[in-house]
Amino acid sequence: MGSGGGRVAVEEVVRVRVRMVGGWYCWLLVLLASPTFTFGNRIGIGIGSRRSLLPNGLALTPPMGWNSWNHFNCKIDEKIIKETADALVSTGLSKLGYTYVNIDDCWAEIARDDKGNLVPKKTTFPSGIKSLADYVHSKGLKLGIYSDAGYFTCSKTMPGSLGHEEQDAKTFASWGIDYLKYDNCNNDGTKPTVRYPIMTRALMKSGRDIFFSLCEWGDMHPALWGAKVGNSWRTTNDISDTWESMVSRADMNEFYADLARPGGWNDPDMLEVGNGGMTKDEYIVHFSIWAISKAPLLLGCDVRNMTKETVEIITNKEVIAVNQDGLGVQAKKVRSEGDQEIWAGPLTGYRFAVLLVNRGPLRNSITAEWDDIGIPPKSIVKARDLWEHKTLNTQFVGNLTASVDSHACKMYILKPVSSS
Ligand SMILES: *[C@@H]1O[C@H](CO)[C@@H](O)[C@H](O)[C@H]1NC(C)=O
Ligand SMILES: *[C@@H]1O[C@H](CO)[C@@H](O)[C@H](O)[C@H]1NC(C)=O
Repeated sequence: MGSGGGRVAVEEVVRVRVRMVGGWYCWLLVLLASPTFTFGNRIGIGIGSRRSLLPNGLALTPPMGWNSWNHFNCKIDEKIIKETADALVSTGLSKLGYTYVNIDDCWAEIARDDKGNLVPKKTTFPSGIKSLADYVHSKGLKLGIYSDAGYFTCSKTMPGSLGHEEQDAKTFASWGIDYLKYDNCNNDGTKPTVRYPIMTRALMKSGRDIFFSLCEWGDMHPALWGAKVGNSWRTTNDISDTWESMVSRADMNEFYADLARPGGWNDPDMLEVGNGGMTKDEYIVHFSIWAISKAPLLLGCDVRNMTKETVEIITNKEVIAVNQDGLGVQAKKVRSEGDQEIWAGPLTGYRFAVLLVNRGPLRNSITAEWDDIGIPPKSIVKARDLWEHKTLNTQFVGNLTASVDSHACKMYILKPVSSS
């Protein structure tokens, strides 16, 4: 904290990777000397401090669950939320870790009550949110809700929490809310670094541990300050259900890989798997990149009505285990040549997750070199194919090559067994 007026000029050093000719990367140190963050004395902590405002102990691994927005947008009601909770259990998804049931925008009346409290929309949530939370909790699941660091949410059909942070946090806690997604629409023009920590403090005072998801769309590089303020932070604007949208969000999110850690995760937005806009292979790429990037795995389809293909993708235990690995290190794109990419990151037990992605129009062979992954060059490595669910018969030295279809991927766990 700076002395005096509570205005703290902040300098953050970020490592930025720059792609060189031939696909190699080099590291540059970039000093972000601006913007000047204006944390008031009210907040009592400067951004330069390493201390978290949100020591809630949550999100040691990325959150998993479901959110209403990608499939339903504003067309939600308590019946859909309850049936979704039922479906998460009956399909076995909850046992795999998908436990958050998150209501997005459009759940409240446009007007607060005469005491200034948020009011669940009478036509769509007549039983109220407390009753919904009780129902969801009775299934062993958790309930998430949505608000906004502005005067209205993005849909403009309900109020935001700006200026009502403590009151709304108390309301959420009293209802039994477990997760808050906090959007950035219709605000007063002040910086997210001013508005978001007010809600962080309010949640900490609310008496309940509530996962705090910062949805400021990556505008002010929240990866730089998010870990002190929330449990995850969006690094991109909204995803849509197309290949181009999906891979561009993956790339933007990858830029910040070094800043993810247990307790705070980069968030490239929710999953579109099962919504119909991509091929099966493309959805497998989507799910694999999100998993290896330690992104929140928040389903965005109608889990009451999924195809066999969708179920097969989102229930891949081996891929989920990469996402939930205890080391909590986000993978990086360690090499790319044209449309061929190699993503890799370390796992517990001296293992490595590797993803070969073919973004081009033709089938192609992709070679992952130990050197790029960080495995000593002479190591003999066992490879497990996570989508074929088999350990390969051959052992590999120096590299692993696979033929990969257009807009498809191969995903492995590599485990060095000895040196040659
Ligand atoms: C279930 O999904 C299919 C497409 O996969 C769709 O045609 C059908 O209308 C859906 N049914 C319901 C009840 O939403
Ligand atoms: C992969 O490794 C093998 C064995 O070490 C070597 O013979 C081969 O040239 C390498 N392939 C590529 C494409 O680097």
